[in-house]
Amino acid sequence: MTDKLLMDACLPDKNGRLGLARVPCPALSDGEVLLRVHATAVNRADLLQRQGLYPPPPGASEILGLECAGVVVACGPGVSEWQEGDQVCALLAGGGYGEYVSIDARHCLPIPPGYSFAEAAALPEAFATAWLNLYQEARLQPGERVLLPAGASGVGTAAIQLCRVMGNPCFVSVGTTGKLARCLELGAKGGVVRGQQSLASLLKPEGVDVILDPVAGDCLAEHLALLRDNGRLVLIGFMGGREASLDLGRILVRRLRIIGSTLRSRSAGDKAELIGSLGMQVWPHFSQGALAPVIDSVFPWTEAEAAHARVAANLNIGKVVLQVTGN
Ligand SMILES: NC(=O)c1ccc[n+]([C@@H]2O[C@H](COP(=O)([O-])OP(=O)(O)OC[C@H]3O[C@@H](n4cnc5c(N)ncnc54)[C@H](OP(=O)(O)O)[C@@H]3O)[C@@H](O)[C@H]2O)c1
Repeated sequence: MTDKLLMDACLPDKNGRLGLARVPCPALSDGEVLLRVHATAVNRADLLQRQGLYPPPPGASEILGLECAGVVVACGPGVSEWQEGDQVCALLAGGGYGEYVSIDARHCLPIPPGYSFAEAAALPEAFATAWLNLYQEARLQPGERVLLPAGASGVGTAAIQLCRVMGNPCFVSVGTTGKLARCLELGAKGGVVRGQQSLASLLKPEGVDVILDPVAGDCLAEHLALLRDNGRLVLIGFMGGREASLDLGRILVRRLRIIGSTLRSRSAGDKAELIGSLGMQVWPHFSQGALAPVIDSVFPWTEAEAAHARVAANLNIGKVVLQVTGN
């Protein structure tokens, strides 16, 4: 495979609508594998990138797509961990909406036994984000209590399951009663539908130790007020707005920490470490059936526009997957 060959990729056309176009195949560098992509998944970040609000980090593919599942079709110099024909899923900085993607070999994980490509494509971004931020950034300890705003999101549904497996009681806030019911099924201990019940009435007086917060904005003060002494809030998004007014006294007196965290812009080495720890500590739970992808829907990639519309309308519970090939 060379960079002179062409492949299909799902890109915004001149009117901004997603559709297939012919583009050059990615080149393969030292330490990389070339994957034939069979499935990818939609992330909230894809919607922002399309609008020009979340550009790829320097050197990353301009093509959308932060994760995929597929087959190794070529290995660059220095790759020893994979060989042609291996079925893997991968965390990407971009390029998942292409027929082929080249990726640091260390950012791939084996597809859990019995999983389809669609199921495997739903794993990397959500589980890497939840694992990184709960157990590494926030250093969540056994028994500590967790709040997951947007609990029915791709990241939220992964985080609920990790908390269940790791023995951390977790609670959610969501937009609908249907989403709350699904979060409880997945293992959340309780939750509120925003606008129907306050988080304080659910969680006070105990409060929580850690919050994985993709909402922040107007909700940040409410979230911080729920943290116990030494509590940690990991800020992973600001769907509720990027500005907030805070009671700094509370942060100081209760010794709270607010930790900002993005996955995509981390160094290749940091991501390799994260994927290594995910493979060791989280992946075995998929083969044992304790963890599973939560798949909202699967669209052929020719219908990526409809898949994005579903996510933009906040209709999904868990992951929306794009099937690139027929299997
Ligand atoms: N920092 C990182 O490294 C990182 C990595 C991955 C994802 N993220 C962030 O994590 C969040 C979840 O990503 P995802 O792809 O899993 O999302 P997703 O599956 O698209 O789910 C997002 C959900 O958030 C809720 N929501 C939307 N706007 C909201 C608002 N203004 N206030 C409260 N809730 C709102 C909606 O559910 P309801 O109906 O329940 O409101 C929506 O379905 C996003 O903010 C994303 O950018 C960050």
